[in-house]
Amino acid sequence: MTDVPSSPLSLVVLVSGNGSNLQALLSACANGRIPARVSAVVSSEANAYALVRAREAQVATEVLCHRSFIGSRKDYDAQLAEKVERYQPGLVLLAGFMRVLTPTFVRQYRGRMLNIHPALLPAFRGLHTHARALASGVKVHGATVHFVTEELDGGPIVTQARVPVLSGDTEASLAARVLVQEHIIYPQAVSWFATGCLRLAEDDSAWFDDRLIPPQGVSVE
Ligand code: GAR
Repeated sequence: MTDVPSSPLSLVVLVSGNGSNLQALLSACANGRIPARVSAVVSSEANAYALVRAREAQVATEVLCHRSFIGSRKDYDAQLAEKVERYQPGLVLLAGFMRVLTPTFVRQYRGRMLNIHPALLPAFRGLHTHARALASGVKVHGATVHFVTEELDGGPIVTQARVPVLSGDTEASLAARVLVQEHIIYPQAVSWFATGCLRLAEDDSAWFDDRLIPPQGVSVE
């Protein structure tokens, strides 16, 4: 483990929807499993339930509604960065943030932005992962935490959780099983970052202490 910073790491969480992953992160910060604080939650949707969760936890909220936004994707991300920067994040967390970020934004937070994706990457990048997993007939599905790079859902994997696909599964039942695991692995990965165990190297490889993280990620005990 490298040096643990003395002041708590500032986390800014980007959301678009329900915010159950945000809730898992807020809880883990509150009970000390993550040595960091959520400084702000920024939503691309004005009515995201995640904003209610943030307010209940007395966390600052910002909305940059992408539906009513007039301007280019670049303009949106410039305003997004402006809002995020107000909270001087040490780590930016995408937690169900349903927008593709521009390369400029991604570069600004290189090595300090994580995403949780509801599939075992590199399988099922993009949207509708559970429906696609069911349609493809895979027997194992899951979730992945990865560093965000310019390649959509393609950054180096930090950790993954696997779940069985059961006969009779629907998109909803499979999503629920995966989500339970998301709430475990995302706080775990954030705590690794906050304690200085996790880093992205210059060549876009991910490291856990002095070990290169293998393609399937670090397993959570
Ligand atoms: C989660 O399953 C997350 O992995 C997924 O959206 C859901 C958000 O749930 N993210 C993506 O699909 C990103 N492309 P939550 O709002 O309850 O955390």
